[in-house]
Amino acid sequence: MIKFPDDFKGILKNAKKVAILTGAGISAESGVPTFRGEGGIWNKFKPEELATVDAFMSNPKLVWEWYLWRRQIMSEVGPNPAHYALVDMESLYDDFSLITQNVDGLHRMAGSKNIYEVHGNISLNKCLDCSRPYDGEINIDDGELPQCQCGGKIRPDVVWFGEMLPADIINKAFAASERAELFFSIGTSALVHPAASLPVTAKQNGAYLVEVNLDPTPLSDYADYTIHGPAGEIMPEIVEKIAELKEDSK
Ligand code: OAD
Repeated sequence: MIKFPDDFKGILKNAKKVAILTGAGISAESGVPTFRGEGGIWNKFKPEELATVDAFMSNPKLVWEWYLWRRQIMSEVGPNPAHYALVDMESLYDDFSLITQNVDGLHRMAGSKNIYEVHGNISLNKCLDCSRPYDGEINIDDGELPQCQCGGKIRPDVVWFGEMLPADIINKAFAASERAELFFSIGTSALVHPAASLPVTAKQNGAYLVEVNLDPTPLSDYADYTIHGPAGEIMPEIVEKIAELKEDSK
């Protein structure tokens, strides 16, 4: 059971503009591994060692193996109660923006509408050189890597460390954070910028900042309210409370 202090209840009920930032933790209960923490074969690599152009140039097969492993997992999983709670939450606020660092597409699959995928989508490919989309099959078993018609290497269409985020999407994400009265940071270690700056931007512009995470993060002490626990349990409880508060005030 979550505690609902008065200031939290007040903002849940009265806010008109809401922005959410999600990270890998929101998909953990769906069975998608997070990037940091936990065991697993890929844990001996840091994401910063695999998700970069340099890593891809020096060992494209290894980077593709990592992405194909993640794609395989993502093709077998579906949204969990936290994703669905955010779909319901969107229907309760006039101005609602869901910013996600996740490339798994689970918010879209759940039915959320106003989504900003700031790190791209893992199901898409593009050319490393000319950026042309590539929708052919990726098969690395024979040692051959897919090539674009321009001769460039095909890579996953996600944002890597050191790369710019898609400008229109990240600009809209910052604008939503600046105008938000209520901001939730859910299941993210809040370490990777610029996404990690969004909750700070929101609070600096007057938003009430809530963090939902299993463990403490650099944001925990800064947030107005921090709730530790699994997003799949906490978010449905919060959204149920919002509906109840709004119903009571009718
Ligand atoms: P991380 O793997 O860094 O962090 C996941 C966070 O989720 C951790 O703080 C966990 O404590 C928390 N967590 C795990 N399970 C949870 C659950 N059931 N409920 C609530 N919280 C839970 O993932 P991100 O913060 O998303 O970027 O990582 C940010 C970026 O780093 C990713 O988008 C990716 C990665 O490198 C790129 O690939 C560019």
